[in-house]
Amino acid sequence: MKKLDIKTPSCESTVWCGEGALAKVLPEALEGRQIFTVTDSNVYELYRELVSRELAPRGHVHVIPAGERSKNYSCLMGILKAMLASGLRRGGTVVALGGGVVGDIAGLAASLYMRGVRLVQVPTTLLSQVDSSVGGKTAIDLCGVKNVVGTFYQPETVIADPVFFDTLPAREIRCGLGEIIKYGALDKDIYIKLIENKNRLARPEFLKGIVYDCIAHKAEVVAADEREGGIRKTLNLGHTTGHAFELFYKRRSHGEFVLIGMYYELYIALRSGICAPEYAQSLISLIKSVVDVPAYENVAEACAGAVHDKKNVGSREIVMVVPAAPGEPRELRLDIGEYTRLLCECAAETEGKK
Ligand code: GLY
Repeated sequence: MKKLDIKTPSCESTVWCGEGALAKVLPEALEGRQIFTVTDSNVYELYRELVSRELAPRGHVHVIPAGERSKNYSCLMGILKAMLASGLRRGGTVVALGGGVVGDIAGLAASLYMRGVRLVQVPTTLLSQVDSSVGGKTAIDLCGVKNVVGTFYQPETVIADPVFFDTLPAREIRCGLGEIIKYGALDKDIYIKLIENKNRLARPEFLKGIVYDCIAHKAEVVAADEREGGIRKTLNLGHTTGHAFELFYKRRSHGEFVLIGMYYELYIALRSGICAPEYAQSLISLIKSVVDVPAYENVAEACAGAVHDKKNVGSREIVMVVPAAPGEPRELRLDIGEYTRLLCECAAETEGKK
């Protein structure tokens, strides 16, 4: 088990990562506290024993329906009302036990209730361990726009234990690998490890080590730029197009859409002369080792959603972060018309290669 401290202007956050973290850190983190647990229906079914042993005796357990559709206003209000009804006090602690959806909405509720109560993130998916539970972003979706209502609110503690991987379906592993490959496009050491282990990315022994590397990269970025004024924008690599496609095409997981977004944006980076062809090809082969990239139809309609991306500054300009060289991402600004044209071209070329 390893420990990482993240110091930001607003607070200090500790991430415990590795085997044994749950058994050791959770009871210590909750000792003597009034707690309020948020989890989802899937996690509750799978980890009833853990919930009854560690969490239910210390306070109310609120179960939300599993899935992205729970990241909405009425589910958030349900959590806040349950917090009030359960008598949660200002000194209490919210425990988010689950994947990205639970972490995002429980984190938002914790940041709002009584102007902020303590938060412990216990991420149960690969994606939430490597990315969403760390760094203090909380959110719900609104009017079909992802993560548009939220706060920056650092968890006091994050417990990232691979014990949860045993119950993850292959789709969830692919989803987490989406964010892991994103880190590979940001960090040269992670990139080298991914290339060297390309045929065993989904193996538990490999995942256990790489989760720490991704969290360590993110911890450094968040400590330098908590509010995403600069370097933190790099963590959105692949997400501009990935989010737009996710909202339009649905059916795949967030991490898979990050990879598909990265693939389409790599095409733009290549055409713009930002990314060297050899490097782009090696990233594309990593992407294709995890997902089958579709030659989408209706791309012009799908990528219209990218205008809502929070990185954008003007209404017609798309701002994205693309890989330039190993460990060197770069910001790229494109007019929406040019962005759409290049993505359509990429879809047509992808179709031609099938
Ligand atoms: N998931 C990107 C970030 O936390 O900034």
